[in-house]
Amino acid sequence: MRDVPQIIQDVGFDFIWDKRKVWQLDVAVEEMPIEELAWHFDVPFIWSKPDGFFDINPRWVIEQPEKYHLVYTRTLNAQTTYPIDIMFWRGKWLILDGLHRLMKQFIEGKRTVRVRKIPKDAIPKIRKDPAGSVVVTGASRGIGRAISQTFLAAGYSVVGTYKAHKPPFEDQNFIAVRMDQGKPASIAKASQTIAARVSAIDALVNNAGIILDGHDQTVDVDKVRRTLEVDLLGIIGVTNRLLPLLHRGAHIVNMSTNYGANSFPIDDKTSAGYRLTKAALNMYTRILAFDTKEAGIIVSALDPGWVKTEMGWDVADDTYQPDREPEDVANDVMDIVMHVKETGCYWRYGKQREW
Ligand SMILES: NC(=O)c1ccc[n+]([C@@H]2O[C@H](COP(=O)([O-])OP(=O)(O)OC[C@H]3O[C@@H](n4cnc5c(N)ncnc54)[C@H](OP(=O)(O)O)[C@@H]3O)[C@@H](O)[C@H]2O)c1
Repeated sequence: MRDVPQIIQDVGFDFIWDKRKVWQLDVAVEEMPIEELAWHFDVPFIWSKPDGFFDINPRWVIEQPEKYHLVYTRTLNAQTTYPIDIMFWRGKWLILDGLHRLMKQFIEGKRTVRVRKIPKDAIPKIRKDPAGSVVVTGASRGIGRAISQTFLAAGYSVVGTYKAHKPPFEDQNFIAVRMDQGKPASIAKASQTIAARVSAIDALVNNAGIILDGHDQTVDVDKVRRTLEVDLLGIIGVTNRLLPLLHRGAHIVNMSTNYGANSFPIDDKTSAGYRLTKAALNMYTRILAFDTKEAGIIVSALDPGWVKTEMGWDVADDTYQPDREPEDVANDVMDIVMHVKETGCYWRYGKQREW
């Protein structure tokens, strides 16, 4: 996902709105001097075609119609019979709808425009419906936190689970649910809570995980068992319980690793329990993909690379250190959910990799 430029973050709304919902509000029309809205002309509110993203200042269009002829033509076609919808935001009047109408009337030499001043308490009524619902396990930190925040920024509603640390962020589209993935009773309770709050799930991201033997040189059966409980059996438990909420076209993304790939060479003795568990998770991904194929659910395993999180730094040393940001992995997950149509594949950095 592309980052919104800082200048837009500084002056723009922090919510996503639906223009049609704005139009439906019953608000009086009044006249306002164009001067009060002219600051918009020097902020890149316009996207160039076909791939632009907040990259054109309205003033450039007004002053260089030939260079920006597509936007200029669109501006001249704007229907100025409709008022401009504005809201008082961070000390100025900010346009919700009608930038091109403002530009056209400025070009025509008008001194005032007709506006509707939408009050802030109308925000709940004009918010865009969520793009979809996503469940992310292990949302309190690291990769899970970045995935949750990336989906929230894209307009999704997110349920994020945690074991011990409540996620340190808030959003009106975010619900945090406590779940210890190593305990079946906790999984059952959390799944009930989720089902009571979410009617359909578009993506389940099985991200929560532990590593207990990142520095061990032996295979410790107790650590293998405990890792399997959380990183495999817990995931199967959560998935079984939430599966009825997933519809045709919904995604399940299982957070795997290089260490789970049979094709990845073993060149040291560490992490036996973790490797075994993630290898089994890969096999579970394939089995689940087969099981849910007819239902049209798309199941993927993701190898996120080596990531700068508590877990990632835990296995680092002076020579070898993680090189990916949690947000990079969040973008990988978003790409899978938005674009992947084949089920039962194993992904790394946007490409299929060997199991
Ligand atoms: N970091 C890497 O380099 C890397 C590489 C390959 C794969 N991965 C995989 O990516 C996933 C996320 O890793 P990360 O680096 O973000 O790890 P992290 O920073 O250690 O975060 C782990 C998350 O899992 C949750 N969790 C731990 N035990 C749990 C349990 N018993 N029940 C429920 N939730 C539990 C934690 O919740 P609390 O905070 O509440 O305890 C936390 O939200 C894991 O599956 C990991 O194997 C990571």
